[in-house]
Amino acid sequence: MALVSAAEMLKKAKAGHYAVGQFNINNLEWTKAILTTAQECNSPVILGVSEGAGKYMTGYKTVQAMVAAMVEELGITVPVATHLDHGSFDGCMKCIEAGFTSIMFDGSHYSIEENVAKTTELVKLAHEKGMSIEAEVGSIGGEEDGVVGMGECADPNECKAVADLGVDFLAAGIGNIHGKYPENWAGLSFETLDAIQKLTGDMPLVLHGGTGIPDDMIKKAIDLGVAKINVNTDCQLVFADATRKYIEAGKDLEGKGFDPRKLLKPGTDAIAECVKTKMELFGSVGKA
Ligand code: 13P
Repeated sequence: MALVSAAEMLKKAKAGHYAVGQFNINNLEWTKAILTTAQECNSPVILGVSEGAGKYMTGYKTVQAMVAAMVEELGITVPVATHLDHGSFDGCMKCIEAGFTSIMFDGSHYSIEENVAKTTELVKLAHEKGMSIEAEVGSIGGEEDGVVGMGECADPNECKAVADLGVDFLAAGIGNIHGKYPENWAGLSFETLDAIQKLTGDMPLVLHGGTGIPDDMIKKAIDLGVAKINVNTDCQLVFADATRKYIEAGKDLEGKGFDPRKLLKPGTDAIAECVKTKMELFGSVGKA
């Protein structure tokens, strides 16, 4: 299947009370592990690309060409979207040009007026190209590509105002943060999520910072209207762990164990396993 916008898959997820995973990619191994797992699980999937990862992979055009070719070569038939994660206005423009099927404009650090103005312009441009667009209200904590948020809770009325601009799905801060959660984390604010969902109706809501949120909170968030969950750090942690174990066991020194195809295999397999577990938890298995 050709790459698709994420609008349809998330509408279905919201109506069906499950969530589609956005798994961030960093290179070919990440992409291959996520795509093959999505196919195996018969699950729709969103490949997230941060601005930093896009730059690392030499640019959005490279990413788009790699994903499109891999979908074809691997015979992937489940719906797959290429999605810019936490994009700046410029980043969004570049991804529109590169042929991504989805973008996120993170205007959370602007005043609500400026966030609204920039989001409105991007909604028009994205929809003209058949792409989906995610907006963010209330900055999400932790650090992602230099954007630092405090894990605040979004104002439900601001969420409603941004939802009404015609975005396809909405990320709202509900006490979630990127990366590992600190020991003293207060947990997700279901009160905020419920208030947002009541005002925004059918709008699929997005939960960022999917790494380290307890399973029962994930399930409750899905019950309250979350239809997309972003996972990045978890895949990085399992990849690093499996790679470290391979090297510490001296496997790279045995035979041709230094061959990158061997050296990177345990980490790649670990990402696949991690993605499968998340798809099961999110309820997207069999929903392609
Ligand atoms: P984690 O790195 O905490 O999984 O968050 C990912 C994310 O929200 C990407 O936007």
